[in-house]
Amino acid sequence: AEVIIVKSQEEAGEIYAYAVAEAIKANPRLVLGLATGSTPHTAYQALAARVKDENIDVSHVQGFALDEYVGLDPSHPESYHSVIRREVIEPVGLNPDLIHVPNGAVESLRHAGADYDAAIEAAGGVDIQILGVGTDGHIGFNEPGSSLASPTRMKTLTEQTRIDNARFFDGDLDQVPTHCITQGVGTIMKARHLVLLAFGSAKADAVAASIEGPITAMCPASALQMHPHATFIIDEAAAEKLQ
Ligand code: F6R
Repeated sequence: AEVIIVKSQEEAGEIYAYAVAEAIKANPRLVLGLATGSTPHTAYQALAARVKDENIDVSHVQGFALDEYVGLDPSHPESYHSVIRREVIEPVGLNPDLIHVPNGAVESLRHAGADYDAAIEAAGGVDIQILGVGTDGHIGFNEPGSSLASPTRMKTLTEQTRIDNARFFDGDLDQVPTHCITQGVGTIMKARHLVLLAFGSAKADAVAASIEGPITAMCPASALQMHPHATFIIDEAAAEKLQ
């Protein structure tokens, strides 16, 4: 993989935004893979600024989020439907009809994963997938032990991920959902370009394991070593455990 060490989250965001903006100019129907969480914030802000400054037509851009909580109403402010709308669709000015988030409704779970993978395929596949990484090496919500060939499906969140995400639920672990629907590692690996961002020393172990460790389901992000076009954009703190 290609590893870019940046001075700040803003610099990382600029690199992502430049790549995406140029790709949209070349292909107005570009398909973006979208992540939630704290990590992609500066990337989406930078993309929004670039789209505005350069007056780029994004009305045909398509998007697929990585994951969604199960059993959280889409109208809940911390559902990934809400987060994607607030963080990406509104600031960048995307067409909400073209931006998809997995369906976390309990009654649809039997087919929601396969439906989602079929929709990604029908759109022509993801061109640029932005990723964060969990402190345990998860991508999407593929926790350690997830098959590296997995499709989109329901998963159980680990205690660690629920603790990490409690900050979005008033710090109350009981409010954090226990299950999710996530693009599989196999789904993510089909994207043509993977861009993983990581900031801060809490991610240093996961980053080192992903880039320099063995390829193993115990660190799902290590699958990126097998991807023909994966870029890590990380700050110095996240890079501190690299050899
Ligand atoms: C979010 C996602 C997760 C996060 C990861 C890091 O859609 O799929 O893999 O990217 O949990 O979260 P943050 O960025 O909040 O540190």
